[in-house]
Amino acid sequence: MASLVGRRALGGVGAAPDVTVELREVTGETVRAICRLTVAPHQESFVALNAVSIAEAYFHPTAWFRAIYADGEPVGFLMLDDDDATPLYTLWRLMIAEQFQGRGYGKRAIELLIDYVRSRPGATALMTSWVPGERGPAEFYRKLGFEPTGEIDDGEVVGRLALEPAPRWRTGS
Ligand SMILES: CC(C)(COP(=O)(O)OP(=O)(O)OC[C@H]1O[C@@H](n2cnc3c(N)ncnc32)[C@H](O)[C@@H]1OP(=O)(O)O)[C@@H](O)C(=O)NCCC(=O)NCCS
Repeated sequence: MASLVGRRALGGVGAAPDVTVELREVTGETVRAICRLTVAPHQESFVALNAVSIAEAYFHPTAWFRAIYADGEPVGFLMLDDDDATPLYTLWRLMIAEQFQGRGYGKRAIELLIDYVRSRPGATALMTSWVPGERGPAEFYRKLGFEPTGEIDDGEVVGRLALEPAPRWRTGS
């Protein structure tokens, strides 16, 4: 699957209305542009550099990563531990570049990721973890419906989003 696409009016302060957000494969032509995307200096402890994530993915057969595009422009990156053997699906990395934050792109990217995870064998939840603390992403995840499980993994709060079966109009069944 080359890309997942979603077009809808986006919420949030400063949101650009009716923007097409896509998850696209990273290619030899686009990898440098994706690696140039960076978060704000105070956010650097929350997420690895995209170049590091892509390098790690090379050594993890279950890593599934995509660039996030908004109206054809690269704006972010995400990576999933796509382990259908367990089956456990864990959002491993997520970033929206500093200049594109606050426009609803992160939320839309997670919605597209959820569509993908729902298509995977035995998927009942999307897991993630986040660095706790002021100005961190906890509220972003809470608004998307992630609930802390009570576990702490390597200093990060573990969160779980239960996946309801997709409505029939979305599955086409
Ligand atoms: C967290 C991150 C991905 C959010 O992306 P974004 O595109 O800016 O978020 P959105 O615009 O889609 O926000 C969706 C909602 O979450 C809220 N939100 C986003 N970041 C927030 C934060 N840090 N604190 C509180 N609320 C936040 C928005 O206000 C919006 O609320 P609304 O739906 O009520 O309007 C982005 O800020 C980022 O890359 N941060 C640095 C890296 C990071 O922390 N990654 C997560 C690793 S675990």
